[in-house]
Amino acid sequence: MFFQTIIIASAAACVVSATDILSRCAEHNIKFPYIPGTQLLEISAQPVENYTTSGSLTQSDAVFKTTLDICNVTINYAHQGWEDNVKITIWLPLRDWNGRLSGIGGAGFSSLASFSRFAPAVSRGYAAVGTDAGHVMDSLNASSWALDESSRVNFFLLQNNFAISQNEAAIVAKEVIRSVYRKGPQYSYWDGCSTGGRQGLMLAQRYPDAYDGILVGAPAINWANFVPGMYYPQFVMNRLNHFPRQCIFSAIVNATIAACDELDGVKDGILSMPFQCHFDPSRMVHQKVDCGGEDIAVTKEDVQVMQAIWDGPKGADGSPLWYGMPKGVSPKDQANTTCQGDRCTGVPFNIAADWIKLFVLQDETVDLATLPETGFEAVTDLSVSAYKYVTSTDNPDLQAFRETGGKILHWHGLADQQIYVQGSQNYYERVEAKDVQVRDFYRFFEAPGVAHCGGGYGLLPVDPFSVLVDWVESGVAPDHLPAATEDGSQQRNLCPYPLVPSYTSGNPTRASSFKCRALYA
Ligand SMILES: *[C@@H]1O[C@H](CO)[C@@H](O)[C@H](O)[C@H]1NC(C)=O
Ligand SMILES: *[C@@H]1O[C@H](CO)[C@@H](O)[C@H](O)[C@H]1NC(C)=O
Ligand SMILES: *[C@@H]1O[C@H](CO)[C@@H](O)[C@H](O)[C@H]1NC(C)=O
Ligand SMILES: *[C@@H]1O[C@H](CO)[C@@H](O)[C@H](O)[C@H]1NC(C)=O
Ligand SMILES: *[C@@H]1O[C@H](CO)[C@@H](O)[C@H](O)[C@H]1NC(C)=O
Repeated sequence: MFFQTIIIASAAACVVSATDILSRCAEHNIKFPYIPGTQLLEISAQPVENYTTSGSLTQSDAVFKTTLDICNVTINYAHQGWEDNVKITIWLPLRDWNGRLSGIGGAGFSSLASFSRFAPAVSRGYAAVGTDAGHVMDSLNASSWALDESSRVNFFLLQNNFAISQNEAAIVAKEVIRSVYRKGPQYSYWDGCSTGGRQGLMLAQRYPDAYDGILVGAPAINWANFVPGMYYPQFVMNRLNHFPRQCIFSAIVNATIAACDELDGVKDGILSMPFQCHFDPSRMVHQKVDCGGEDIAVTKEDVQVMQAIWDGPKGADGSPLWYGMPKGVSPKDQANTTCQGDRCTGVPFNIAADWIKLFVLQDETVDLATLPETGFEAVTDLSVSAYKYVTSTDNPDLQAFRETGGKILHWHGLADQQIYVQGSQNYYERVEAKDVQVRDFYRFFEAPGVAHCGGGYGLLPVDPFSVLVDWVESGVAPDHLPAATEDGSQQRNLCPYPLVPSYTSGNPTRASSFKCRALYA
């Protein structure tokens, strides 16, 4: 399994003995730092030995079992006047601490993806920190915290979740590390995908001192725009009153991949250049698709829906409201449908539906299927005007972070079905427009065929976290990002944006058979 191939490195030989750390792992010994406007509510600290838990390297990766010996510290605190209760959790290795901190990012509406994301960091000697930002950790469902008893948006929890808690967690974790190990971390790293990726870029933009290295996967930046955008396929299907079966979408996507597979020079089932793919699905009308034993023909309406989803939402004046779904992306999350006999209906992706209902419209009971023709644009406009500043975290000015010597390693799957890759491309281009030397401290890699934070049919980055650590600590800037299928049978180097992969010669399962080239070279 690919976790076993990871090499464990130690930043600092640790001179503190495990018995010292055991004795310091107690409430009275843990100091809560000064954070303006906060009050400590509760500290808990106990050693936990032989703790067997499951860990996952990425948010959608296979899970492995591991046994940890940790000092488990939890700290609850409140913000003056808010009556909130934020819980930070820190796991500190009892033995062989490597001198570093790792901050663990969230998923969807959850500020912390899962404790299974702590295990890989801790088993490699890192102290790990995460925060619940003061609300229930449910990535897909915000209904327990979005609105207060009067059905008004809970702006304090929104602000905790999107803008404040991650920095406070870093400050607290560094103080707890000093309390337990008697010295602070030598280096601190962020590790997040999706919401975790957004939090990483948010930290670089707003809190440049929090982390030295920031690993960003498929970031949920541009939140105020892209989250309504995740609802757009449902809006299209409701307006056209046509809900294609998933097998039809799947057949169109497969035909698209097959038609454009060779743009990179090799037929290997992986679409590397979705934005150069101009497949016209109208040629599939009347074609029969095997829908679980039943043959169903593709209709003109099916193609019309697919094309509208690819084209993306436009305002009344024709300007884009968000990007369209890239070619080769599975519509299963955003354009989900369910059928009984011949009758199909849409199944909205819950993050998009919750965002629009709870935060934008502040009305849990609204039926989004009844949005009028102008409704999608109106909802997007309101989302942006009310929430862009707090939630989108897409400020391209990273000079303060750059000046700390920090590094950002950013990757995004080209087949990401939840957060389209164009949002990452756009952000990187805007950072570059402000700083032509962006690659000195920030590099972005696209992963062909990879879905949201993993999965899909492509090759996933292999341990990008260690690549980032090498860059920060040894100055080894990555010219490519090694990627592989989970069983390791296929390897590929991901290209630094905007370069694209190009087959040269040899076995296409080997990285050396490809080079990176400029798109229009
Ligand atoms: C943890 O497991 C090891 C090896 O099985 C054992 O020697 C040790 O006593 C255990 N520690 C605790 C606190 O249970
Ligand atoms: C860590 O401590 C908290 C608070 O006491 C507890 O809820 C949690 O289960 C503990 N975690 C582990 C791994 O023991
Ligand atoms: C979201 O959670 C609430 C409880 O907090 C529950 O009533 C609701 O059914 C959930 N929604 C979905 C779509 O699961
Ligand atoms: C599309 O390709 C995938 C992966 O090979 C396969 O699982 C799926 O059944 C295909 N869809 C259709 C409708 O043939
Ligand atoms: C699509 O909707 C069906 C029916 O509600 C559900 O069972 C399925 O899990 C959904 N698929 C995805 C990818 O969410």
